[in-house]
Amino acid sequence: MSGREWAVERLAGLEVWTIDGEARRNALSRAMIRELLENLARVRDDRSIRCVVLTGTVDKAFCAGADLKERATMSADEVHHFHQSLRDAFRGIESAPQAFVAALNGVALGGGLEMALSCDLRIAAEGAEMGLPEVGLGIIPGGGGTVRLPRAIGVARAKDLILTGRRVAAAEALAMGLVSRVAPAGSLREVTLEVAGMVARNAPVSIRQAKRAVDGGLHLDLDAALAHENRMYQDCLATKDRVEALRAFAEKRKPVFTGE
Ligand code: COA
Repeated sequence: MSGREWAVERLAGLEVWTIDGEARRNALSRAMIRELLENLARVRDDRSIRCVVLTGTVDKAFCAGADLKERATMSADEVHHFHQSLRDAFRGIESAPQAFVAALNGVALGGGLEMALSCDLRIAAEGAEMGLPEVGLGIIPGGGGTVRLPRAIGVARAKDLILTGRRVAAAEALAMGLVSRVAPAGSLREVTLEVAGMVARNAPVSIRQAKRAVDGGLHLDLDAALAHENRMYQDCLATKDRVEALRAFAEKRKPVFTGE
């Protein structure tokens, strides 16, 4: 299956969505965000898809941020509309029941890094670089960058990146906690699919609830966060998959999860 902006590949329990915009270094165009929203709506209730990988086709570029050529042709109203749909798309990734993994095959700049920040996991190719260059363009990161980056790596490090606009290489990104793994040269797909496959083998409701527990509990006080975690946990107890896991353990076999 392939759209114009994203190539969609279906594998066991997961999908790989690959940005296919070589001429503009995979920059975020209106058509691309529209198609991303369509893809998010398509998988939202599909329990057979437990994990989605976002990556880019272009050698060296995951995503060069906003499409600056398209942006130059847009009216103020169009920019406003585009920006809202971009924010909706990134929020859609974050709130999706599936786990999202960004496989950063090359530079992730501006909105490209913000899209990766809305994913649950980020894996960088050895040569990848990341940055939020917006202050050098007369704007600020407005696709969630000033909100999600400090949550991911802490305020001091986030301000270091946001206020300088500098790019960090994969090794520094790993040390900062901006990515959770760096794949050795030539092995990004293999490493990413191994991680995505491990996620996809787990119970879908557990993935959804664990994601909600972490994201929703992060900025609550301790008691509220523990109460939130407990609510997320309770929702797993009524599932058939929990019973299946216990049965599989007793029968010394791997569980077969259905998402119910
Ligand atoms: N929007 C639109 N087109 C872009 C783009 C963007 N964000 N980034 C790159 N392109 C286009 C270039 O204009 C160029 O098009 P051309 O061949 O018609 O001139 C083509 O992609 C290749 O760019 P080039 O700079 O030659 O490729 P590169 O591999 O050497 O470098 C980048 C890639 C992404 C590092 C570099 O292009 C860059 O820094 N882009 C701007 C990133 C940015 O500031 N994004 C905005 C964040 S808010």
